[in-house]
Amino acid sequence: MKQRLLELLGVEFPIIEGGMAYIGDGRLAAAVSNAGAFGQVGSAGRTLQDFEKQIQIAIESTNKPVGVNLPIGEHSDPRERVEMILKYKQHLRAVSISAGNPRPFIPVFQEAGLPVMVVISTAMHAQKAEAAGADILIAEGFEAGGHNGPSEVTTFALIPQAASAVNVPVIAAGGVADGRGLAAALALGAAGVQLGTRLAATVESPAHEQYKQALVAARAEDTTMIERSVGRVTRVLKSPYVAEVLAFERTQPSPDELYPFIKGEKNSIGALQGDLQHGFAYGGQGVGLIHSIPTVEDVISSMVEEARRTLQNLPTL
Ligand SMILES: Cc1cc2nc3c(=O)[nH]c(=O)nc-3n(C[C@H](O)[C@H](O)[C@H](O)COP(=O)(O)O)c2cc1C
Repeated sequence: MKQRLLELLGVEFPIIEGGMAYIGDGRLAAAVSNAGAFGQVGSAGRTLQDFEKQIQIAIESTNKPVGVNLPIGEHSDPRERVEMILKYKQHLRAVSISAGNPRPFIPVFQEAGLPVMVVISTAMHAQKAEAAGADILIAEGFEAGGHNGPSEVTTFALIPQAASAVNVPVIAAGGVADGRGLAAALALGAAGVQLGTRLAATVESPAHEQYKQALVAARAEDTTMIERSVGRVTRVLKSPYVAEVLAFERTQPSPDELYPFIKGEKNSIGALQGDLQHGFAYGGQGVGLIHSIPTVEDVISSMVEEARRTLQNLPTL
């Protein structure tokens, strides 16, 4: 499965940059691909024009394969995003689909020659996505930064169950931030890993310096969930702003009442302006493994090296 993944994505290492609202820009995607992993330009948090610009930056900044992430539910009309991706189909290697029903979109991209990765959070959804034709599944556990699956299944439990349920490569996402996580994911039956939080705290990431420093300072217990009151689960860094949102959620607001507090603009204030008093920023529980702001090349090479060492030195039973 790992070999199949490497061939489908045309990469050296089984490591994928997850789609990241506001953070997953062209420069970061190219840096990830140049390091031998698979970079992806995120469509969330961007205008259509900026999405195109970031795709262009990515493909101009690397000769290696790059992809895009399309979180369907983040866009009132995803069709224009689909058209934009198809416009660059010759230059892209794969598309990942999240936050919505992937079924109508999978054949559209595959007919254009683009393998499709689908983000799932239960073994049952893994089977549905495989039946719908997905080439690769990204199994995202509850540890992950950003929007999570409502079933709240953790990565450690999800990966072996998803891997046993399907016959396509399964990628582990959520809580992986070093080589031990990569080695563990492979042991659980994953073909590779997807990273979010770890890559947000790199030199090439467009995250504001204050957000990066908050990621360095945070421990695993410094993340929490917002939006539970309206039936969604979103993992963010604890902050004064998040405390206000949670206090408001305890008053049981309607989705429309809560929206102004959790809309994308508030994420941009936290993530790109670094103002955690007036906006929020995503972070997964693996954040406790982040102690510095290295280059992407350093993250990928040290992760691969540590995973190799870990696998070689595993204690025997
Ligand atoms: C800053 C940030 C933004 C994210 N935005 C998206 C997104 O737009 N689409 C998506 O499918 N996943 C998104 N995610 C989830 C990641 O793609 C990835 O699956 C997740 O971060 C993996 O868990 P980790 O944070 O523990 O590495 C985001 C995560 C972070 C940290």
